[in-house]
Amino acid sequence: MLILYFSGTGNTKYIAELFCQYANAKCHSIEENIDFGQLTAAEETIGFCYPVYGSRVPRIMREFAVKYSEQLKNKKIIIFCTQWIFSGDGARVFTDIFPKKHFEVIYAEHFLMPNNVNNLFFLPLENEKKIEKYLENAERKINLICKNINNGIIKKRGFNIFSVLLGLQQGVFIPLIEKKSLNIVKISGDCDQCRLCVSNCPMNNLELINGKIITKSNCTICYRCINKCPQKAITLYFNKKVKKQYKGVGKSMRIIIAEKNDLPEILNLQKLAFISEAKLHNNFSIQPLKQTIEELKKEYDKHLILKLINANNEIIGSVRTYEEDNVVQISKLIVHPSCQNKGYGTKLLKAVEKYYGNKKYKLFTSSKSEKNIFLYKKNGYTEIKKEIGPDDLEFVFLEKQVLSKMDG
Ligand SMILES: Cc1cc2nc3c(=O)[nH]c(=O)nc-3n(C[C@H](O)[C@H](O)[C@H](O)COP(=O)(O)O)c2cc1C
Ligand code: SF4
Ligand code: SF4
Repeated sequence: MLILYFSGTGNTKYIAELFCQYANAKCHSIEENIDFGQLTAAEETIGFCYPVYGSRVPRIMREFAVKYSEQLKNKKIIIFCTQWIFSGDGARVFTDIFPKKHFEVIYAEHFLMPNNVNNLFFLPLENEKKIEKYLENAERKINLICKNINNGIIKKRGFNIFSVLLGLQQGVFIPLIEKKSLNIVKISGDCDQCRLCVSNCPMNNLELINGKIITKSNCTICYRCINKCPQKAITLYFNKKVKKQYKGVGKSMRIIIAEKNDLPEILNLQKLAFISEAKLHNNFSIQPLKQTIEELKKEYDKHLILKLINANNEIIGSVRTYEEDNVVQISKLIVHPSCQNKGYGTKLLKAVEKYYGNKKYKLFTSSKSEKNIFLYKKNGYTEIKKEIGPDDLEFVFLEKQVLSKMDG
């Protein structure tokens, strides 16, 4: 499976990449300089992911879809769109680009994500907490979509007549707005010619000529430059300097599946996090402190490892899991010492339970680790036994049966 996305300010990129992690699919931005003809021709199922602009597909994505239309014939197609509040038929409108029955839509879904329009007072930007909520809901939705697709369940959000009518209310104005917006970027005297907007514009719409940024009448109104300009020297439509910029979801705390190249950072974090355990037992040769990168790589092949990332993209927490006979084993739940007692342990546990759903969960910790035992019991785990384990330490084994509906 291949997912192709366009993202102006990062929301859609986030959704596309997260889905691909869960679905084990290939993920590419349509801005990449690769052979999309060959890539699309080789895949049976192709997903398209884009932000809705006035309930419609951004021009850049429409042009891309037209270019590779031939390769999409008779394929299975997934359509995801991101939006702030509503689009009506934001996913369905992708099919308008093609002749009827050009391909088979096997899934279409809308994702609510933070607003990225930062120069209209009635469209406020949201705070970190609110952004985190969007991400939690999106991840839950992705989990459900993956299960549905695996089970052959077809869902097409936005394809009914009510959605189409709702979408029309906004969509009908878009051709005119798009036309008027081709040359809508305004650059103020605050510009210091850093060229960031030039190299970042997905349409190559901006150029630095004779010390001035000029536009080439090719704007797709993605709001990237206005949100990125370090001098806040770019506006769209109005000549008023913007107060705030949308920095994207990448800046928020989030839990996602770790990749192989994260392992050295996770191992470092593990060693930091387990120092308190070593002190507790006056034993600095416990397994988590001795583990090598090669051993962790082997563990990675069997385990699902989640990572908790902070606003600076640093890994500040992690947990390892694997499932066998409907039982999920949890281990190495770690949080950076400077971030402990802030609820991140609970967040990691909940992320594991959300990922696997209704299962039995088992974990263990040293019987001296009162903090850990408290955390697990607070999260519904009950003690089942104590046993002497590695390094001659006594361990408490706990388990929890999750029965609630996790899919939402
Ligand atoms: C020009 C433009 C038009 C938009 N129109 C809509 C809309 O009709 N409905 C909506 O809910 N959000 C709308 N939004 C919000 C974005 O779709 C939403 O924030 C999206 O997740 C941004 O994705 P990105 O960060 O990948 O660019 C619009 C944003 C822009 C820039
Ligand atoms: S990003 Fe801003 S400051 Fe830099 S060249 Fe563009 S308009 Fe000027
Ligand atoms: S000029 Fe700015 S808003 Fe227009 S397409 Fe380029 S980056 Fe996006």
